[in-house]
Amino acid sequence: LVAATPYSTLPSVLLVGPSGAGKTALLTLFERGPLATHTQQQHHNDEKQQQPNNTAVALTHTSQTPATVELAVSDDGASSFRDDLDAAGSAHKKFLLVDTPGHAKLRRHALARIQGTSAASSTAAVATTSSSSDSSSSSKSKVKAVVFVVDAAALADGDALPETAGYLYEVLLSLQKRMGAGKGSRAPASVPVLVAANKLDLFTALPAALVRSNLEAELGRIRRTRSRGLLDSGVGADDDVAAAGGAAGDENDDWLGEYGSDKFSFKQMLEFDIEVDVIGGNVIGEGPGADRWWRWIAERI
Ligand code: GTP
Ligand code: MG
Repeated sequence: LVAATPYSTLPSVLLVGPSGAGKTALLTLFERGPLATHTQQQHHNDEKQQQPNNTAVALTHTSQTPATVELAVSDDGASSFRDDLDAAGSAHKKFLLVDTPGHAKLRRHALARIQGTSAASSTAAVATTSSSSDSSSSSKSKVKAVVFVVDAAALADGDALPETAGYLYEVLLSLQKRMGAGKGSRAPASVPVLVAANKLDLFTALPAALVRSNLEAELGRIRRTRSRGLLDSGVGADDDVAAAGGAAGDENDDWLGEYGSDKFSFKQMLEFDIEVDVIGGNVIGEGPGADRWWRWIAERI
């Protein structure tokens, strides 16, 4: 056999979540950090002149393909996304931030990467035109963490809750199955999840604690409905259960979190070594900003 090339693929952090939550806006902020920060600081003095910069972050459109950018955190994890670590000459670790489309019909991109399959990678490689890094290499990269972006303002009026929680259920269940699949041999490295409650600049937005409890309640409802479906009809027919699940076809394979529990909570995911945090922030406008999300990522790279 030929020895493996010294080339190593960078670890990646996946941005997932429903359409319109702000994934691409966040990627743009982290990529062009200094610009965007400048905009916020200058906002009051110089509103008109700075407008174009702000719009650069704000102007996104529905994503149809994954996009990847290469970013770096300092070795001690204390750097900001505004720092240019190369210029500063400080020791740093690089990683890939991968934006995925949130539209329901395009979620296979994100789910395939979470499951560690390459199902969507060939499509992605062909379709991606605007990514700043080779997407075929990013699809082989090891997923270190998942950032699930939600629109905390949309969650306030109810309609978005089932849709958002439905996608989160898929993501968490994929991660849970992935951990279960490693039984017997070596367990796969756990992948932590950050629920980024975005758009806290809007006064209608729910605070992070409410985003958390509303999502937990809805995930519990989904779990109940699904288990009832399973009991009624045997196992769901052409679900991706068989594709992702492997050998075991137990009904509790589709149960998220602590089996048989009445209420769902994110803490139950710890049973599968999956850490879930909910942190509020915003990409544009006035508010807590994106620093806490960046720090969360930096600590896990
Ligand atoms: P898809 O590509 O369809 O999956 O959506 P996305 O998650 O990439 O959403 P995108 O980044 O395109 O943002 C959707 C809209 O939300 C844009 O108009 C953004 O300007 C806006 N937006 C993003 N972040 C914030 C924020 O923190 N506050 C406010 N007020 N608007 C935001
Ligand atoms: Mg997008």
